[in-house]
Parts: sequence; structure tokens; C-alpha cells
Amino acid sequence: MIVIAIANQKGGVGKTTTAINIATAMAASGWRTLLIDLDPQGNASTGVGLAAAQRDVSSYDLLVDEVPVEECTVASSIPGLDLIPATVDLSGAEVELVGAEARSFRLRDALAEHDAHDICFIDCPPSLGLLTLNALCAADTLMVPLQCEFFALEGLSQLLQTVEQVQQRFNPDLGIIGIALTMFDRRNRLTDQVADDVRECLGDLVFEAVIPRNVRLSEAPSHGLPALVYDHACMGSRAYMDLARELIGRLPQERVAA
Ligand SMILES: Nc1ncnc2c1ncn2[C@@H]1O[C@H](COP(=O)(O)OP(=O)(O)OP(=O)(O)O)[C@@H](O)[C@H]1O
Ligand SMILES: [Mg+2]
Repeated sequence: MIVIAIANQKGGVGKTTTAINIATAMAASGWRTLLIDLDPQGNASTGVGLAAAQRDVSSYDLLVDEVPVEECTVASSIPGLDLIPATVDLSGAEVELVGAEARSFRLRDALAEHDAHDICFIDCPPSLGLLTLNALCAADTLMVPLQCEFFALEGLSQLLQTVEQVQQRFNPDLGIIGIALTMFDRRNRLTDQVADDVRECLGDLVFEAVIPRNVRLSEAPSHGLPALVYDHACMGSRAYMDLARELIGRLPQERVAA
């Protein structure tokens, strides 16, 4: 299973929207896809149709109680897409795991033997705490949604420093598969400028596909549906389809063929 963490410690930059829609696009392309909600806010779980009251198992069980991954997984309403939901309990996990052995590797160890899915996306919370660290230790690679706004690059350098530290201390094989520009508004000259700056700084690391600011993307979660299902033809959905195609092109080709 290829494991991709979707992380950025900045809040509200489009992590969850990206996780939900990329996971849906991959499932629609025939990949057996697992979405792990690692954010106590549980937005990814809600966004694929699992209301808080329906969450009997969760990523908390996986991390803290070491419940096997199969038992923490539920089917979503989207064919081919399974979910490990998050509940508010997860907000206590950082503290509860403080004294635990190998606390940074809980998720990696939980997923180590798992082969019922081809690809897994981890929706991280907006912090660089122990939950995100677990995601970065479990991941083969990282995808970073970046909102085209003034402080974007500042936050990004902090994230890249963290990735470097994780590579040095915990997960030497951690890659960065790409940076996805989100909430792009072509009428706003600042977003244009930021997008140009980011491309100049980071070159090919930035995906060609740009996610536009699109109201359909923000409406979809209130219907418990990925935008790709809610309105597959809207600008946002089409952009996520393009992004998924590009992502597949960046995956190790021997694993794509398998
Ligand atoms: N491209 C977009 N166009 C319009 N609205 C968007 C877009 N992407 C995300 N949103 C909306 O912006 C808000 C934040 O997005 P999202 O929840 O995906 O970010 P996040 O990084 O996961 O946030 P958090 O850090 O709180 O987990 C949500 O209300 C979402 O519906
Ligand atoms: Mg989120």
C-alpha cells in the first residue's frame, strides 16, 4: 500500500477537501483506497458521509488501543473508498501517548502488514504535533496543499524543516510528492503573485493542476459527499481529477502497474 500524508500545519488551507476528493478520484480510477482521518475535527469523516453519531470505531482506537486496522475501517458511501474515521477522543491521543513506547511509530506499525488497499491518504490536523508526526512516519510521501495567500511560503518553510527533521530522525525514505495550490482565484492579483513565487521557489515540486476557489467544493461536505460525487462537472471537481491524474503520474510506476 502506498501511503500519502496530506499535511500543512496551517489551518484551513484545503487539506481535508484535497484528501476527500483525491481519495474519491483514486477510488473511481479503480484503486482500492483507504482514507484515514487523523484530525479530531473529523471533517474528512463527515465529508464522505459518516456523521459523528455513526462512528463506532476510529483512528483513536488504531493509535491508542492498537486495535487492528481492519477492525477500525468502515466502508464509505463511495464504492472503492474505505475510511478510518476520527472522533473527538483523538484530541486526547497526543497526551495519552506521551509515555508510550515508539509513540511516533504507532500509525506506521499499525499499517505495516496491511495490504487490503492499494493506496492510503492521511488527512492531518493543522499542527505539527504527535498526530502529524505519526502520519509523516507512516507515509511514503507527503502532499502539501498550499493556499495562495501572503503567508503561505513562510508556513511552508517551517513544514519543510519538519520534514527534514523527520527524514533525519525517523523516516529517511519520506518523500514529497508535490505541492498543490488551492483556493486559487484568478481575479485576485495577490493569489497570482503567490502562485508565481511558489513556482519560482519550488519548481516542479508544485503540481501543474491548480485548485480554484469554487463554491461547489465548499458546499459538498454539508451533503456528506465529496465534490466529485456532488457535482462532478464543476470547476473544482475537474481540477481535482486533473490533480489525481498528475499524482498517479508521479507514483512509482512499478506500483502503478501492479
Ligand atoms: N478550493 C476551494 N474553494 C472554495 N472553498 C474551499 C476550497 N477548498 C476548501 N474550501 C473550504 O475552505 C474551508 C477549509 O478547507 P479544508 O477544511 O479543506 O481545509 P483544512 O486545511 O483541512 O482545514 P483544517 O486545518 O481546519 O483541517 C472549508 O470550509 C472548505 O469547504
Ligand atoms: Mg482539515
